[in-house]
Amino acid sequence: MPSFRAPRGTYDILPDEQPYWSFALKTAAETAKRFGYGRIDTPMFEPTDLFERGVGDATDIVQKEMYTFEDHGGDSLTLRPEGTAGVCRAYIEHGLHNQPQPVRMHYIGPYFRYERPQAGRFRQLRQFGVEAIGDGSPNVDVEVIELGWSYIRSLNINGTSLRINSIGDSECRPAYLDALREYYRGHIDEVCDDDRQRFESAPLRLLDCKRTQCQGIGDAAPKSTDFLCDACDAHWASVIALLDGLKDTYPDLDYSIDHRLVRGLDYYTRTVFEIEPENAAGQSTLLGGGRYDGLIEEIGGPPTPGIGFALGLDRIISEVKSREGFVPPESGPDVVIVHLGDEAGLRASALAAGLRDDGLGVLVAPVGRSMRAQMRYSNSMNARYALIIGDREIESAEGALRPLRDNGEQEAVALNVQALAKALRGD
Ligand code: HAM
Repeated sequence: MPSFRAPRGTYDILPDEQPYWSFALKTAAETAKRFGYGRIDTPMFEPTDLFERGVGDATDIVQKEMYTFEDHGGDSLTLRPEGTAGVCRAYIEHGLHNQPQPVRMHYIGPYFRYERPQAGRFRQLRQFGVEAIGDGSPNVDVEVIELGWSYIRSLNINGTSLRINSIGDSECRPAYLDALREYYRGHIDEVCDDDRQRFESAPLRLLDCKRTQCQGIGDAAPKSTDFLCDACDAHWASVIALLDGLKDTYPDLDYSIDHRLVRGLDYYTRTVFEIEPENAAGQSTLLGGGRYDGLIEEIGGPPTPGIGFALGLDRIISEVKSREGFVPPESGPDVVIVHLGDEAGLRASALAAGLRDDGLGVLVAPVGRSMRAQMRYSNSMNARYALIIGDREIESAEGALRPLRDNGEQEAVALNVQALAKALRGD
């Protein structure tokens, strides 16, 4: 047993895994660019109040999952559990309402939640998220959903499904919450203990309960879409019509209206949505988001609508790995220099420096091993070529360049950077 291990709920991403991450991150940046979402980076910690007020005091995130600490100056700070509150804080702080609206932004990075670790659930998680702030029209809701769907498709992840709902706004939600409490009051003895506790503080979350005993009760509960005010209802109808319009491009955009979808953060208004993978089980939601028209005002800005989503990259990577159709790009150096003897060792090191400076990937095989061991090493590094230098090659000033990945002939190449670079590039 090693004395130190990565903390529970965290893991290392070793070099072999990196091609999957590069692929997912590069595709995220490209997708964001196609939709005009510029990159924003915010600090990894923020004042604790920002999350208490933004995400909501009664949420699991704020109550149980935040990594909060007091710094040496006595300020309470929290490792960001999610990205939206920080992006909205930045929007206010930098006066981004003066720019053309909506301001479209994306972010990629680590987030921290003290959750019970299990498959697909980590304490340091990584998200790709987008926010479009300053435009309340339903077209932006659907643009954001389209972006998420398009990203997932670009990664060759098929069979996903979209669930969508509208949870109204501060105008119509109170009446809905009353109806919900009224309904659950009649079932209070049948629901689980957690739900009994949430009954007063977070009645919407009762709908989200995953316990078997609460399923039938949740299914038969009043639906938020039946309580929408006129403005929310018109918005909802437009979202659905616009979503149907995406089917020409994405025939498999298979969405369902789920009246039990409420999301676990308090800032949502109107549209909320989630994307699940095929064969969804347990902690597998790939993406979640929604509109948050009250959030910016809640954290001290002018009334400003916003909408966005975040997608769990850890979960996306395991989906990518479990699917066919994505092979990580061939990695490995262009050449490993195999060298026998002191003189060859010196030449190997000097040539490696010159070739690397020329832009090629070069490894020098470990010193003091037999030719056969060095060739084995070259193959295990997945190199394109081995360049063999021994006494004979030093004397003739020509090294033996042997292709390793393709069946080509070994050739003699002058031992200088220019000739070797040319041969390695196949010019
Ligand atoms: P969220 O639903 O809390 O929303 O997280 C979004 C996604 O992050 C989840 O669907 C999941 O894929 C991933 N995720 C969350 N927690 C974990 C975890 N412990 N381990 C692994 N993956 C996890 C938000 O964070 C909102 N800020 C989304 C948003 C943006 N809404 C509007 N704009």
